[in-house]
Amino acid sequence: MIKVTDVQYARISVPDLDLAEEFLTNLGLVRSARTVKALYMRGSDTDHHCYIAELNEQGQPGYTGMALAAASAEDLETIAKAEGASPIEAIDEPGGGNRVRLTDPAGFGVDIVFGIQQLSPIPVKNIQPQNTGSDRQRLGNRAQFTSGPGQIKRLGHVVLFVEKFEECVEFYGSLFGFISSDKMFDDGDGETIVSNFMRCDRGKKHTDHHTLYLKAMTETRCHHLGLEVEDLEAVQIASHYMAATDHKHNWGIGRHVVGSNIFDQWLDPWGLMHEYFADMDMLDAATPTALTAVSESLVTHWGPPHPYF
Ligand SMILES: [Fe+2]
Repeated sequence: MIKVTDVQYARISVPDLDLAEEFLTNLGLVRSARTVKALYMRGSDTDHHCYIAELNEQGQPGYTGMALAAASAEDLETIAKAEGASPIEAIDEPGGGNRVRLTDPAGFGVDIVFGIQQLSPIPVKNIQPQNTGSDRQRLGNRAQFTSGPGQIKRLGHVVLFVEKFEECVEFYGSLFGFISSDKMFDDGDGETIVSNFMRCDRGKKHTDHHTLYLKAMTETRCHHLGLEVEDLEAVQIASHYMAATDHKHNWGIGRHVVGSNIFDQWLDPWGLMHEYFADMDMLDAATPTALTAVSESLVTHWGPPHPYF
C-alpha cells in the first residue's frame, strides 16, 4: 500500500475541444496546454493541470478516470507491483512526469503520478480584509473587485456512483491509503453502509474531509468533480459569471453538513456536474470515522433544497 497525497487531475472525454475550453474557461480554469487530442487546464495553484479534456468524437462523453499524487518516486515503484498495475512509464503529455496506470473495480482509470511539472502560482483575485460585524479588518481602504470568470485553485475531490461499491472502497483504501471520514448507512435498515466519504492519510497533516466520495448505486458514473475556490465570495462571483454566460445550474449556493463545505454546482455541455467548493473541514488521520445516515449527504446548513426533491 502507498498513501497518496491528493487527487491531481481528472480525465474527461469530450466530443468538442472548443466547446470544452469555452465551458472550462467560463468556469474559472486556465489553459495550460492544448494538443490536437486534448486540452490541459490548470487552476491558480501550481499543478501543471488539474483537468484533462480528451477529444473523443464517437464515444460517450464524461469522466474516464483520475490521477492521484504519489508522495515519492519510490511509491511509484511500490504501486507498480500491485495486481493489475502497469510498469512505471513516462507520461507522454504536457507537464511530463511518471505514472503507473491501474483500473478501479468500476472500470475507471486511476493513474498514480509523480514528478509532473509545477508552474508558478497565478495570483488569486479579490482577496481582501473583511469588515465583519464583530471584527473590522479593512480600515481606511475601499474594497476593490475584479469582475470576470471565477478562479479555481485546484481539483479537490471526485464523486463516483458505483455498482461495485464495496470493491471500490476496498480498492482505494487498500492500495492508496484512503481512510473514511463519514461512512453512511441506509436510512431504511439503519445499518447497511451505502456510501463513504474518503480522505487521504496524511498522518498529522490536515487534509480535505473528502478527496473521494463513493456511493453505491445501480449505475456507474461520475456524479461530480469538486473544484476548490478561495472562499464564499469567490463561489458567488464564479456563480454569477456562470449564470451570465448561460450555463446550466444544478444546486447551490449552500453549505453541506457533511464536510461543511460551501458548494455550487454547474453542468458542462454534456451533463457532467462541476462543483465549486470552499471552506471544507480539514481532518488529520487521527480523526475518528463518523457514522451518518446517507440522507444527511443532501442536507445543508443553509441553501436551497436539493433539486431532485
Ligand atoms: Fe462535492
